[in-house]
Amino acid sequence: MTTILGISGSLREGSYNTMLLRAAKRLAPAGTTIEEVSIRGIPLYDADEEARQFPAAVTALKAKVVAADGVLLVSPEYNNSIPGVFKNAIDWLSRPPADIGKVFGGKPFGLIGATPGMGGTNLAQQAWLPVLRTLGTLMWFGGRLGVASAGKVFDGNGEIVDPKIRELLEKYVVGFSKFVAEQSAPRG
Ligand code: FNR
Repeated sequence: MTTILGISGSLREGSYNTMLLRAAKRLAPAGTTIEEVSIRGIPLYDADEEARQFPAAVTALKAKVVAADGVLLVSPEYNNSIPGVFKNAIDWLSRPPADIGKVFGGKPFGLIGATPGMGGTNLAQQAWLPVLRTLGTLMWFGGRLGVASAGKVFDGNGEIVDPKIRELLEKYVVGFSKFVAEQSAPRG
C-alpha cells in the first residue's frame, strides 16, 4: 500500500483547498491511500519555544511526514504567494535542520491548489518551488493542477461538479500516486 499524506494549507471550515484534498482522496487509485492531516494547532514559529520545548503538534506532524511515502500539498494563494500559515507549518517541519534530510530529503511531493479567483494559485505554486527545492524534496512535475473559479467547481457538499476539473484531478492523483509508488518500491 502506498500512503500519501495530504496537507491543506487552509484552516477555514469551508475551505476550497480542503475540498480539493478530499476530492483527491476519493479519486486515489487502488493501492494508494491519501491521509488528510490538518495544520491546525501548529504554533507560530518561535525559536525560543523551540529551544524550551519542541511543540508536540509539530513532532506529531513530522512523524506523519516521515512515515508517508509521499506528501501532497494543497495550497491556497494569498497576495500572489504562499499563505503564511502554511509556510509557517513547513518551516516548523524543517526544524531542527539536522532532521531536514529525514523529513524532506528525496520525499516525493506534489502540489495543487484552488482559488475562487482566476489565477488558479499559479503564483503560490511558483512561490513554493524554491522552498521545496531547498528542503531537498523530490517534486513531481509530471502534472499540474490549479483550480480557478472554485466557487463554480464545488457544490455545497464539496463534490466537484465541473467534469473537466474532476478529470484533471483524477489524472493528477493517478500520475502522482504512480510516481510515489515507484519511488517507494524496493530497488533490487
Ligand atoms: C486571498 N485570496 C487570493 N486569491 C488568489 O487567487 N490570489 C491572491 O493573491 C489572493 N490573495 C489573498 C490574500 C488574503 C490575505 C486572503 C485571505 C485571500 C483569496 C483566496 O484564494 C480565498 O480566500 C480562498 O478561498 C482561500 O482558500 P480556502 O480557504 O478556500 O482553501
